[in-house]
Amino acid sequence: MPEIHVVRKDNRHLYENYFDPYFRLRYDIYVKQRKWMALDRPDGREIDQFDSDETVYLFAIEAGQLIGAMRAVPTLSPTLMSDIFPYLNLRGPIRRPDIYELSRVFVIPERRGEHAGPRVEMLLLTAIMEYGISIGLTAFSIVLESWWLPRFERIGWKAHPLGLPQQMDGMSVLAVLVDCDEATWKSLCGQIGMSGPTLTWRGLADVNRRALPALALLPPAAAQHTR
Ligand code: COA
Repeated sequence: MPEIHVVRKDNRHLYENYFDPYFRLRYDIYVKQRKWMALDRPDGREIDQFDSDETVYLFAIEAGQLIGAMRAVPTLSPTLMSDIFPYLNLRGPIRRPDIYELSRVFVIPERRGEHAGPRVEMLLLTAIMEYGISIGLTAFSIVLESWWLPRFERIGWKAHPLGLPQQMDGMSVLAVLVDCDEATWKSLCGQIGMSGPTLTWRGLADVNRRALPALALLPPAAAQHTR
C-alpha cells in the first residue's frame, strides 16, 4: 500500500528528489495527455504560480516511486479560483484561514482504476480530509470538471456548487466548496478499510496539529463501491 506523505516548505528538503519527477509527471499528464495547452512550458515541467512556499503537497509514494499526488493552497494566498477563474464563484473571493484550495490531483496511468485494495485516488481523497481536519480546516474550495460531482457523491464528499458550470475548451467546469469534517473522514476510512490516521508527517514534528483518533476497525466492504 502506498504511503501518503505531507510535503510543505518546512520539510521540502527531505523530498527534493521527488520534485523534478513530480513536475514532469504533471507535464505528461496535463499537457501531453489531457492537452491543457495553456500549461505548456518549454522545459517539460508543469509548474505555475500556485506552486509556492505556501503550497502543501500530498505525495503518494510506493517503493520510492511517486504514483500520485495532490496540492492544497491556502485561500489567504492567491488561488486558481481567485486569480484565474473568479467568474466561477458567484459569492466572490474566498479568503479564509480555514479553507484551502485543492488542485492537480492525479494518479499515474498504470495505477488508475485499480480494484485490488483501495485505489490510490481514494487514498489521496481520504488523506487530504485527514490533513484538513488535523490542521483545523473546515472546507476545501475546488475548480473542477463536473464529472467529479457524481464521484464525490458516491464516496460521501459533500460538494456545494458556488456557481453554474461553464464550458471551457470542451470541458464543463465549475467551482465548489467541499466540507472538511471528521464524519466524512471516518466514512472514507471505513470505505477503504483503514483504522485510523495514515498520513506520514516526516520532518513536521513542529507543526501544530490535532492528533486524530484510531477508529474501530471497519470491514472494507464498501471499498469496491467507491468508483
Ligand atoms: N473525463 C471524464 N471522466 C473521467 C476523466 C476525464 N478526463 N478522468 C476520469 N474520469 C472518471 C470516469 O468516470 C472514469 O471511469 P471510466 O473508466 O469508466 O471512464 C473514472 O473517473 C475512473 O477514472 P480512472 O482514471 O480509471 O481511475 P482512478 O479513479 O483511479 O483515477 C484520476 C482518477 C482522476 C485520479 C485519474 O483519472 C487521473 O489521474 N487523471 C489525470 C489527472 C486529472 O485529470 N486530474 C483531474 C483534474 S486535476
